[in-house]
Amino acid sequence: MKNTIQQQQQHPPPFSITKLFLNLQMHLPNLFSYFVIFGFGVALGIALSFHLKNISLFSFDDQLHQLSSSSSSSSSSPPPNIQPSSPSLHLVTTTGNQTTVNTTRTGLNDYVSLRPNNNNAMHDMTEEELLWRASMAPRIHEYPFKRVPKVAFLFLTRGAVTLAPLWEKFFHGHEGLYSIYVHSSPSFNETVPQSSVFHGRRIPSKEVQWGKFSMLEAERRLLANALLDITNQRFVLLSESCIPLFNFSTIYNYLINSSKAFIEAYDLPGPVGRGRYNRPMRPVIRLEQWRKGSQWFEMDRALALEVISDKKYFVTFKRHCKASCYADEHYLPTFVSVKFWKRNSNRSLTWVDWSKGGPHPAKFQRRDVTIEFLKRLRSGSHCEYNGKSTNICFLFARKFLPNALDRLLRFAPKVMGFN
Ligand SMILES: *[C@@H]1O[C@H](CO)[C@@H](O)[C@H](O)[C@H]1NC(C)=O
Ligand SMILES: *[C@@H]1O[C@H](CO)[C@@H](O)[C@H](O)[C@H]1NC(C)=O
Ligand SMILES: *[C@@H]1O[C@H](CO)[C@@H](O)[C@H](O)[C@H]1NC(C)=O
Ligand SMILES: *[C@@H]1O[C@H](CO)[C@@H](O)[C@H](O)[C@H]1NC(C)=O
Ligand SMILES: *[C@@H]1O[C@H](CO)[C@@H](O)[C@H](O)[C@H]1NC(C)=O
Ligand SMILES: *[C@@H]1O[C@H](CO)[C@@H](O)[C@H](O)[C@H]1NC(C)=O
Repeated sequence: MKNTIQQQQQHPPPFSITKLFLNLQMHLPNLFSYFVIFGFGVALGIALSFHLKNISLFSFDDQLHQLSSSSSSSSSSPPPNIQPSSPSLHLVTTTGNQTTVNTTRTGLNDYVSLRPNNNNAMHDMTEEELLWRASMAPRIHEYPFKRVPKVAFLFLTRGAVTLAPLWEKFFHGHEGLYSIYVHSSPSFNETVPQSSVFHGRRIPSKEVQWGKFSMLEAERRLLANALLDITNQRFVLLSESCIPLFNFSTIYNYLINSSKAFIEAYDLPGPVGRGRYNRPMRPVIRLEQWRKGSQWFEMDRALALEVISDKKYFVTFKRHCKASCYADEHYLPTFVSVKFWKRNSNRSLTWVDWSKGGPHPAKFQRRDVTIEFLKRLRSGSHCEYNGKSTNICFLFARKFLPNALDRLLRFAPKVMGFN
């Protein structure tokens, strides 16, 4: 049954069987396809006649109902008596901070979120299917239901989200305003307790190697999974060693209200900047377009759609940015700077300390975490936000080791403003 529906949807609505045959003669010039098409035509004929006799026969399946009514209204028969749709959709309701999806309305649910009713980010789509599904976007920009925008927190981890207790406190009481996606190593097999905000939030994942192209693929996988939920509006990439520097409402407002994305991008002469450019990337990418920046991005829905739909730059990087090129430090900064620089702030929201040199940034242990240190990360810089200068430039920081957790939990209420 489902197959028939998909087949029908892939073709334009058939007006007559003769026309259908003519169409198909052009496209599928072999005998076997005629048989398939003939069967299809007969099935459609039967379906249509059933439909005309008794429309309520199909009420068990809204999708089929919609399909049959649309195909019959384009035929010459008088329009059937379709149930009047209610003026307001009652699709998504928000009471307090809780967003619920009305399960009795099946017609639109699939388009609002792939899995609106069970809190599970897992699915069985292949990578190709996922990217295709995630790349869909409405061209009517007003939503026919109340859409409360959410921030999607994308955790790219090796194993567990080691600082989870801090994040649990951060998210507490803000249900309906965020969603969480976790990409961890496929071999990681620990379970997350049902009471945790991270429960059921793992997405289908693949092995990731530090500094390799697989890192970019994982980032894209996270973005694509988060795009499946149409209420996700901003997307932030985090790791297991990242911490929030402010409470949820401050971070939510900062992101939702921002006119720009936060993807660090700069032009750096020398071996670890322009030196990583590879001449065969021409003509897609020229040396003066080459950019570097932190992989820890933040972007809005429109840009996320562009990123997961990009093939040209992605393939060029896959082919020509290998070994000591580090695609994860160059792909997004370059792609966004070439095509969408107007929408980018060119800075990262994730504080990190590179002052010690070397390929890895500084790691912070328990004894490094002090009130003064956290205060400095929160407000010790100057930057622009929506055209005005501000000292709130970083909303997140890394890299914090698991042994820093107890101090972070202790200082969070006093310094970061959450319990
Ligand atoms: C769900 O949608 C149906 C049909 O529009 C409506 O009658 C019902 O009141 C809605 N339920 C909620 C909880 O909004
Ligand atoms: C959000 O909802 C929870 C219950 O689901 C409630 O305990 C909490 O106080 C609410 N927070 C806000 C800010 O309304
Ligand atoms: C998890 O994986 C480890 C090896 O990586 C294995 O020893 C252990 O039995 C696994 N646990 C479960 C519950 O599958
Ligand atoms: C979050 O922090 C800001 C100041 O940083 C404060 O004004 C606000 O009340 C806090 N929000 C909550 C829900 O605690
Ligand atoms: C930021 O967004 C919040 C709602 O998320 C709104 O209440 C607030 O007024 C906005 N602030 C600015 C400066 O636009
Ligand atoms: C970001 O960098 C681009 C050059 O890549 C520049 O044109 C643009 O003005 C910069 N944007 C901001 C907000 O500084």
